[in-house]
Amino acid sequence: MKPAAAPLAPNTLPDGVVSLADHEHHARLVLGDSVWAYFNGGAADEITLRANTQAWQGIELLPRVMRPLAGGHTRVNLLGRELAHPILVAPMAYQHLAHPHGEQATALAAAALGAGLVLSTQASTLLEDVARAFLPDAGRGPLWFQLYLQPGRGFTRELVQRAEAAGFEALVLTVDAPVNGVRDRERRAGFRLPAGVSAVNLAGLRESDTAAPTTGHSAVFDHLMTHAPTWDDIAWLRSVTRLPVLIKGVVHPLDARQALDCGAAGLIVSNHGGRTLDTMPATAALLPRVVQAVAGDAPVLVDGGIRRGTDVLKAMALGASAVLVGRPVLHGLANAGATGVAHVLRLLRDELEIAMALTGCRTLADAPGMLRSSADVL
Ligand code: FNR
Ligand code: LAC
Repeated sequence: MKPAAAPLAPNTLPDGVVSLADHEHHARLVLGDSVWAYFNGGAADEITLRANTQAWQGIELLPRVMRPLAGGHTRVNLLGRELAHPILVAPMAYQHLAHPHGEQATALAAAALGAGLVLSTQASTLLEDVARAFLPDAGRGPLWFQLYLQPGRGFTRELVQRAEAAGFEALVLTVDAPVNGVRDRERRAGFRLPAGVSAVNLAGLRESDTAAPTTGHSAVFDHLMTHAPTWDDIAWLRSVTRLPVLIKGVVHPLDARQALDCGAAGLIVSNHGGRTLDTMPATAALLPRVVQAVAGDAPVLVDGGIRRGTDVLKAMALGASAVLVGRPVLHGLANAGATGVAHVLRLLRDELEIAMALTGCRTLADAPGMLRSSADVL
């Protein structure tokens, strides 16, 4: 008999890991210093990074008891589809840094757990391979492609057409990172992409398109800002795709309205996990005003600092249509590949059900009544 091939990397769960925080602690032991700085770091003084988790923690739940909850469920509707639960995997670049199976492991786990998946433009796996891993699962959630506009509309259009042909169901245009934030932690750790990990879906980009211009004085204003997204790009994007376009990184209520006026199908309230502009407010604090401005005209999703099922419940209570989870997925991936990602998503979903049962929510439509701030008695 042929001996079983040795696993490329651990795919069994470490003992004693029962929460997303446990996954984070364990991943710290597994990952090297510089990859850890890239994954877990934020911009500058990391004030926004810390605020994101603290803000969810600081919202108090006020449960109702003895309500009939049999037959309750976590299902939600999103862009015309019913999902088993409102948890999606956020787009995150270069997942081969976490595990040799990279984005494919994340995709298999997300599909098996009924979670949506948003694939980064800067994925380290071909988007077609990710779609092949994700789409066959009958219980899967939505598959979306996160888009960073590339220098030259021709290349961006081809990328969009590839995503469409591969079976991606929506585009997520990220607008809050036209330039990287001031990543002090990353620079201190000397983070560099190792050989063999790259943004493979951008391989066809011509050097001349990405090189900084020789004229002009500012790498930011004379180079990066020349192809940063502007409002006109939404109309252009809509003209080259039949897919719905969501905008990720909208936080101001006026921008939210403008995005809808430009034809956005949905919004993701995000501060990029505290990785771009430091001292932005936490997303939990930003969400209610955006929800108010959108007034039910389109779904509003949120990400940043979601680490517990109670955080998911609170986001839904504040009017989110669904949530995205970032770093915990990378932690699970680093700890045990697809098994680790599945465990992270399973923990969150189980915790959400427990939080619903303990607050008296039969469905997530009941969530708004369970915030202390919405009770007029306390
Ligand atoms: C990201 N994020 C991100 N966003 C995006 O639109 N495109 C991308 O390629 C990436 N890449 C990326 C890499 C890494 C390592 C991280 C941690 C994050 C941001 C991500 O989608 C999301 O907004 C935040 O990660 C959510 O916050 P939490 O859950 O990580 O706190
Ligand atoms: C990041 C980029 C890839 O946050 O969005 O690292």
